[in-house]
Amino acid sequence: MQPDVVNVPQHIAIIMDGNGRWAKRRHRPRAFGHRAGRKAVREAVAFCLRHSIQALSLFAFSSENWHRPEEEISALMNLFIRVLDREVAELDQQGVRIRFIGDLDAFARPIRTRMHTAMRRTQAHQQLCLNIAVNYGGRWDIVQAARKVAKLVACGQLDPTAIDADRLTGLFCLANLPDPDLLIRTGGERRISNFMLWQLAYTELYFTDTLWPDMNEQAFEEALTDFQHRVRRFGKTTAQVTVRG
Ligand code: FPP
Repeated sequence: MQPDVVNVPQHIAIIMDGNGRWAKRRHRPRAFGHRAGRKAVREAVAFCLRHSIQALSLFAFSSENWHRPEEEISALMNLFIRVLDREVAELDQQGVRIRFIGDLDAFARPIRTRMHTAMRRTQAHQQLCLNIAVNYGGRWDIVQAARKVAKLVACGQLDPTAIDADRLTGLFCLANLPDPDLLIRTGGERRISNFMLWQLAYTELYFTDTLWPDMNEQAFEEALTDFQHRVRRFGKTTAQVTVRG
């Protein structure tokens, strides 16, 4: 069946929440839920490829996640290594460009090296841009952009009066991608939790109680159908945006 190409988002952002609760319901450790979440990541990638969605941004590890119990952090780091060792080849074959966004310096060398290798290996691909946010926070992204602006001003390459939203946009992670059209948050919470604060300004928000490991093709299709029924106004009136020429 041909996918519906009308009103398909160009960029989807996802806060993958609920792994811990999914594991708890099964009387298993939290890490079990994170491992199960890997399958839903594959589903999300397949969904985007099927609908020719240009970019998918996943919040895999926030700057605040370092405060979790040591045992969980170490399980997550091992999982990242396994994912990098086992999934990159397939993503490469599928034409997926992988990018890690966030402060990567905080990760141990074996993870950093794998992240950079995966980014280099897939950098020419154009089927889908898969952005994995690790040690990322929306405020961090704004701060690092502010530092770049301050440097440019300090060395005389930028006039402060020339700083506007477009100039700033170019300095954030993912500067070359359109802002997300749709944010999906699983796991029942209804907040943004410091994810892509600048880029989500006009994004449609979709919250579902489904826990991340339970997200499957049907659940992603439901999110898409919901999005396709939204009227995006970008500050205009409904009449203005629904007039057809
Ligand atoms: C949030 O659920 C999930 C995470 C902090 C980790 C997400 C990681 C994966 C899905 C693993 C593979 C991903 C990639 C892309 C490498 P939670 O632990 O906050 O769940 P809870 O709210 O039920 O406690």
